[in-house]
Amino acid sequence: MKMLAAPATVLALWAASAQAAPNDEIAKRLEPVGQVCVQGKECKGMEVVASAGGAGGAKAPKDIIAKHCNACHGTGLLGAPKIGDKAAWKERADHQGGLDGILAKAITGVNAMPPKGTCADCSDDDLKGAIKEMSGL
Ligand code: HEC
Repeated sequence: MKMLAAPATVLALWAASAQAAPNDEIAKRLEPVGQVCVQGKECKGMEVVASAGGAGGAKAPKDIIAKHCNACHGTGLLGAPKIGDKAAWKERADHQGGLDGILAKAITGVNAMPPKGTCADCSDDDLKGAIKEMSGL
């Protein structure tokens, strides 16, 4: 159970450092994610944390999203383009030279978007798969 709390903590740290907003305000916004997961009730998208990872090789886009991207992109937290909001993703892609352009941004990170979306061991292809799945592009 303890490890399930980790992603929310990481996110809170990220959000606090990436944006100059007061720590407790950001922590408050992220709190529901952490609490829900810790309590082991409805932990949307996070339940795969325990089972995913380890074996290496290509990862399933859905698993990556559930584990790393959904916390922000599921709700549009901190201004993230929402999963399934194709228009929002397309507009970004159009401005950055397509899918590979936003992939590059996802790898380096941009504003409140953490490098690799917190999936440090994701390959570029893994991330691309997740972006495709989220954007529908
Ligand atoms: C801590 C919250 C957070 C997490 C976790 C996160 N993102 Fe993001 N993401 C953002 C935000 C916020 C933006 C918008 C950044 C901006 O343009 O200011 C963004 C933007 C993006 C973009 C568009 C970049 C561009 O050039 O416009 C891509 C692609 C992306 N995220 C992919 C991912 C993927 C893939 C994951 C999971 C592996 C992920 N993100 C996880 C917050 C997050």
